[in-house]
Amino acid sequence: MAVYLNSCISLPINLTDNDFQDLIQKIKDWTIMHGGGMRSKTQFSNDSLTVVPFTLLPSVFPRAEFQKAIAIQPALNELTHRVSNDHEFLFSCLEKTIEVDEFTRNLFKLYETVRNEGFTQRLSLGMLRSDIMQEKEASGDCIKQVEMNTIASGFGWLGIVSGDIHRFVLQQMGLLDKLCVLPKNNALQGLSSAIIKAWELFNEKDSVILVIIEDQSMNICDQRFHEFEITRQKPELHVIRKTLTQISNEANLSNSKDLIVQGKKVAVVYYRAGYSPDHYHGEAEWSARLLIERSTAIKCPNIQYHLAGTKKVQQALATPGTLERFVKDVKKAAEIRTVFTGLYALDLDENGEKAVKMALDAPERFVLKPQREGGGNNLYGEDIRHKLMSCMNSKERSAWILMDKINPPVQQNYLIRPNQDFKKNSTLYDVVSELGIFGTILCDGDNIIINEQVGHMMRTKLTSCNEGGVHAGNGVLDSPFLIDDYPKNIM
Ligand SMILES: Nc1ncnc2c1ncn2[C@@H]1O[C@H](COP(=O)(O)OP(=O)(O)OP(=O)(O)O)[C@@H](O)[C@H]1O
Ligand SMILES: [Mg+2]
Repeated sequence: MAVYLNSCISLPINLTDNDFQDLIQKIKDWTIMHGGGMRSKTQFSNDSLTVVPFTLLPSVFPRAEFQKAIAIQPALNELTHRVSNDHEFLFSCLEKTIEVDEFTRNLFKLYETVRNEGFTQRLSLGMLRSDIMQEKEASGDCIKQVEMNTIASGFGWLGIVSGDIHRFVLQQMGLLDKLCVLPKNNALQGLSSAIIKAWELFNEKDSVILVIIEDQSMNICDQRFHEFEITRQKPELHVIRKTLTQISNEANLSNSKDLIVQGKKVAVVYYRAGYSPDHYHGEAEWSARLLIERSTAIKCPNIQYHLAGTKKVQQALATPGTLERFVKDVKKAAEIRTVFTGLYALDLDENGEKAVKMALDAPERFVLKPQREGGGNNLYGEDIRHKLMSCMNSKERSAWILMDKINPPVQQNYLIRPNQDFKKNSTLYDVVSELGIFGTILCDGDNIIINEQVGHMMRTKLTSCNEGGVHAGNGVLDSPFLIDDYPKNIM
């Protein structure tokens, strides 16, 4: 068979089926042996890993747009920080939502509680991921932001692995001259050193890092490699992993509001869970979250940052003049605006009515989003129509936002998944990609100490698939192959 390579890689290589099968197996073995693993959903065991799903080939991405995405990240970091510290703005964005959405209401209550008591920690740490797709436009493709993640922004490690898988693939195919086209990626190092810097500023030699995890961590390699990288950079530093349930049983606050876990003071809390209602089985987990927020630990993110990452805030920032309130530099604000796509509130007012009508007339042009993270919650096509019809005159509508659907260019690729037969491994599928850019921001009040872009990750999914979650089984890991011009056959 002829292994198809994206035409920018341009050299079809003839392989027999057997050779192709061997190649795929070798690449899967390489992947799992280099940290490209996750827990199996079907045969979960704490003692074994299954290979991550990945594209056999990198996906082309215009170099100029990639560089634009990287260049804009510090401005987006700072924007998130400013928004998170603007109480009036957060309240005005979420006031209607919290009337009807219990989860956001609970988060907001927690925020108000600690705000009224007085925040105990001036230092804030954001480990952010801005998700981006390319939009096909008449004037050429340009990047559009899907959303900004402020909590549990994953794939800092697996983003690196994906690029390394593709380096190995290109090397195996003898395409050594193409290796330089895959951009460097230091996401893990950058994210980990931000945590370490926060720990240093906390300035207590024996203090530890606490990672809040789910009951079952499927994305274990991504999480553990952060932990291992922290220990590599700072061998004396200890990392403890606990669920919110365990924190409710095992943690307490000292008289000076230090968070104490296993007899150690916690310097930094890094949430890899806590973003979904599923992570709060009841009062115990909410109390644990409150305990952490009340403490002197530096939270990544603190509750303000968590709220600043809601889709409602994203939508409000897109309304005329709002972004400009936070970004005084006119040029910077204009640059940020170019990556926003159409976002619409669905309140029970004139603008909301207009947005509903637009969505009912052409639901295929939009995505309907609630205030949730973790994938699988958005609605598309006819489901948008059904949802909107069902809450036509109800306040429930305010808990959702409407967003223009981004239409990225379609490419073809092989999708390699665990336990998949050769036929599927060797089928070329039409796919689209989403790039995530990582940023870190460490601040003391309004004073910015670190504000950086630190790396990237890419996920790719079938064109027929709406959501791209890797653990949900829709998306697969990918990496960008930077090009100056699109080849003709990419639509
Ligand atoms: N406006 C859009 N146009 C096209 N696709 C979109 C759009 N918004 C979301 N998607 C798709 O749906 C997925 C999930 O959307 P979104 O990132 O808003 O939700 P989430 O629950 O916060 O996901 P995540 O777990 O990635 O943070 C995206 O990764 C993307 O594939
Ligand atoms: Mg998200």
